[in-house]
Amino acid sequence: MTDAKLDAVLARIDADLDASLERLFALVRIPSISTDPAYAADCRRTAEWLAADLKSIGFDASPRPTTGHPMVVGHDRSGPDGPHVLFYGHYDVQPVDPVELWKTPPFEPTLVPQPNGDTWIVGRGASDDKGALMTFVEACRAWKAVTGSLPVKVSILFEGEEESGSASLKPFMEAHKDELKADIALVCDTDMWDEKTPAITTMLRGLVGEEIFITCADRDLHSGMFGNAARNPIHLLTEILASLRDADGRITLPGFYDGVKELPASVKAQWERLPFDQEGYLRNVGLSIPAGEKGRSVQEQIWSRPTCEVNGIVGGYTGEGFKTVIPAKASAKVSFRLVEGQDPAAIRAAFRAHVRARIPADCSVEFREHGGSPALVLPADSSMLQASLKALAEEWGGEAAVAATGGSIPVVGDFKRMLGMDALMVGFARFDNRIHSPNEKYDLSSFHHGTRSWARILHALAAKA
Ligand code: BES
Ligand code: MN
Ligand code: MN
Repeated sequence: MTDAKLDAVLARIDADLDASLERLFALVRIPSISTDPAYAADCRRTAEWLAADLKSIGFDASPRPTTGHPMVVGHDRSGPDGPHVLFYGHYDVQPVDPVELWKTPPFEPTLVPQPNGDTWIVGRGASDDKGALMTFVEACRAWKAVTGSLPVKVSILFEGEEESGSASLKPFMEAHKDELKADIALVCDTDMWDEKTPAITTMLRGLVGEEIFITCADRDLHSGMFGNAARNPIHLLTEILASLRDADGRITLPGFYDGVKELPASVKAQWERLPFDQEGYLRNVGLSIPAGEKGRSVQEQIWSRPTCEVNGIVGGYTGEGFKTVIPAKASAKVSFRLVEGQDPAAIRAAFRAHVRARIPADCSVEFREHGGSPALVLPADSSMLQASLKALAEEWGGEAAVAATGGSIPVVGDFKRMLGMDALMVGFARFDNRIHSPNEKYDLSSFHHGTRSWARILHALAAKA
């Protein structure tokens, strides 16, 4: 289908590419690391930058204070009567450490040409999620510039705490239900299927985050004077962590797999038809031997099986040289990825009970909660999803994939439970973007074709009225 208006909008996006990159660079330059209080002012500045940018294209937009980092909310009601969409993205980013592994400074976005002709936009947040959220903003900008309005009514919600547990999100949504409710949510925070094939993600894993702090003696001790006799909290901690998995890679918490269903045969068959390169997936990160649950493919392990990972561990002397110490304390950060059927509260309770049962009477343990969200499966047959798949196929010249992801985007479940709204998760990130790692990048092609894709999707959704 050709449409003169849409063609003009797409041409505008092409002509505006350099300016749109400048805007993305300006956004990436602000170090909005949400988990570290030292960057709170930068998070606020990022929210202000985004609200001002939305205003410049005619949105009624503002930063909204929360008890954490601000939200940004904007509305553009220039579209005709018909569907109303809520676009969600997050402006906060992950810490940059280890900073010495970055080839260019993380907050100095840089275009890096690749031998194969690709161009990378390198910087923290270039992909997750600043580059991705700007694809939507740039698509709106082009529609407004060319036609003076948007094809549908659009609201936007940008969050600044996604990477650090979204503490303000539920209260904010609860307090602004009427303002945020739309017919469907659009989310741009997921991966492509492969470098030529964008994906709409319909299955997300949930997440339970826990930090545990173990205390044994009331001070650090000389290990010659106390070793063997005094309990070592690092030993205790590592024994407990090791006990979370059995030899076959299954999680040992009682009830952990309650409610977890085997993948329906039809989905399994569909996944098997997808050209997923199991060995290549690990080879790409310097590994070759699959770990984890025995008898499950890598894809199954990541998309449809629950798991437990230790994400950080602290204790004892970790500075230069050597110190013969028995520390008083040790701690760890542990996360569980959940699939459909698992209850985050029950998993958290089972974990705490498992740990407490292993703490001797003269030692103690404390827990800190770091977010919890159930997994989510979205309907794959809605007319809006079908219209979006068609729009994506027109842009990328081949069928788009309907996929699952191992990552978690807690807000999508909240949209469903609190606002009764399904989400379309459309992603343009390549799986080798090194999100959360040093040298994060977004392909220029993801940015450019992602923007063009949203322009087409907005147009296609209007036709659904
Ligand atoms: N964009 C990611 C989620 C994601 C990762 C989707 C990979 C698809 C592929 C998101 O910003 C993220 O990192 N989420 C966190 C959850 C959060 C509660 C810390 C995650 O998945 O670890
Ligand atoms: Mn993200
Ligand atoms: Mn992330």
